[in-house]
Amino acid sequence: MKLRVWDLPTRAFHWSLALLVGAAFVTAKLDAYDWHFRIGYALLALVAFRLVWGIVGPRYARFASFVSAPSRALAYLRGAPHPAPGHNPAGAWSVLALLALVGAQAVTGLFTSDDVMASGPLYDAVASGTAEWLGRLHRLNEKLILAVVLLHLAAVTFYGRVKRQPILEAMVTGDAEVAAAAPPARDDWLVRLGALVLLTGCGLGVWWLVEIWAPTLG
Ligand code: HEM
Ligand code: HEM
Repeated sequence: MKLRVWDLPTRAFHWSLALLVGAAFVTAKLDAYDWHFRIGYALLALVAFRLVWGIVGPRYARFASFVSAPSRALAYLRGAPHPAPGHNPAGAWSVLALLALVGAQAVTGLFTSDDVMASGPLYDAVASGTAEWLGRLHRLNEKLILAVVLLHLAAVTFYGRVKRQPILEAMVTGDAEVAAAAPPARDDWLVRLGALVLLTGCGLGVWWLVEIWAPTLG
């Protein structure tokens, strides 16, 4: 039977994240730093949104519903069953890794400079050695993000092709096929409105940081 697992805000978050991470890479390679910065700020707001949504959002989007001990993730990888809807115990850790890496990339970007014409808004707020070090992390983290995203895509392909579990369709439609009855994720218009308010708050927070607070520093 079909069950609503991913609420619309979680799905919209995911596809925006995927699109914007791709766009951040392309704009960096093209030296289009106006757009690279804007996209980076949007990603910062998105990750902040997901962290809060992981606490207040509908049941399967909550960290408490899918994050479990690493030993359970290892047991799952060795074949232990996991019949519950939502992220599996191993996937949960890749979700956390992706969020942490993208979040770290957006934060280090604020301190990064290309030493020619583009400097993040907090570049002058710290000692030049510190900014240099954070910039190096920004360039190094690029490789980590690429590696984890490739692993992510390999896992999604493996589930679809080998295990015949349509997890990709679930991230598009929100519905997953489940064997036993389970409560659906709440996904009504009130929940969606709440998500929009939260996202707007995160966007305003980033705008305040970049446009109001950062210029008062350094
Ligand atoms: C998650 C968001 C971000 C991603 C995925 C990302 C990714 C990248 C990548 C792939 C590069 C190219 C590194 C290279 O080819 O050497 C780069 C460079 C750069 N990024 Fe970001 N970035 C993000 C956010 C930001 C933000 C928010 C800012 C500043 C507001 C920023 C500022 C810069 C600068 C100044 C460079 C040039 C570094 C150099 O020339 O050495 N980035 N970024
Ligand atoms: C076209 C490329 C992509 C596809 C097809 C894809 C597919 C998926 C699928 C099917 C899931 C659900 C996994 C599950 O059922 O447990 C998922 C979750 C996730 N993916 Fe992707 N993904 C893509 C790109 C990306 C990128 C580029 C990122 C970030 C760098 C990313 C980050 C995440 C995160 C954070 C989650 C957890 C979603 C949440 O709970 O909020 N994905 N992805």
